[in-house]
Amino acid sequence: LLRLAVLGSGAGSNLRAIIAAISEKKLKAEIAVTLTDQADSGFRKIASEAGLPALHVDGGANPHRLSEAAQKEIFEHLERARVDVVVLAGFMRILKEPVISAYAGRIVNVHPSLLPKHKGANAPQMALDEGAQETGCTVHLVTAEIDAGLILAQAKVPVHAGDTAETLHARIKVEEHKLLPQVLNEWCERGLPVRGAGAS
Ligand code: GAR
Repeated sequence: LLRLAVLGSGAGSNLRAIIAAISEKKLKAEIAVTLTDQADSGFRKIASEAGLPALHVDGGANPHRLSEAAQKEIFEHLERARVDVVVLAGFMRILKEPVISAYAGRIVNVHPSLLPKHKGANAPQMALDEGAQETGCTVHLVTAEIDAGLILAQAKVPVHAGDTAETLHARIKVEEHKLLPQVLNEWCERGLPVRGAGAS
């Protein structure tokens, strides 16, 4: 079984979707470790309640960056847990060396937009500000350049009149919860998934 590390900072709904896919045998992988920079997050609660190792790493003062010590600490946790694939499920700090090189081609991120549109931290709001008719979510490989690695799969979501960033983001998450486990399972069964896999 492929050994996953799941990293997150927020509500943890994507982690919950991965856990559910594993227990429903739709995803033949195991979660070796979870790791968060937010000690009191929903993400960490979901991990603990599922009986998973739920590690907390102090990321440092800047909420979007990780201190050098934290970058190294995360690397050490991944090595210790003998992780095959690193899944960023709402991890809101930028992962850099040594993890980026050591796990090159084995780190996936889920992002709430149709990349390359709306990179960064407030993607659903960006789609609204632009007056977009549709947006969606993307699962992609993580490289040193933010939100720019190879796109593995995307799903589209309509923007409704009267949407707020919250209502739109909630609709996007419904698709993320299907797409991310699906891409991970393809990875487990067939190796690295191809561009467009699982797109609707
Ligand atoms: C997800 O929508 C994910 O795409 C987004 O954070 C949310 C986490 O939700 N990630 C980013 O915006 C990364 N730039 P969750 O904690 O409920 O899984």
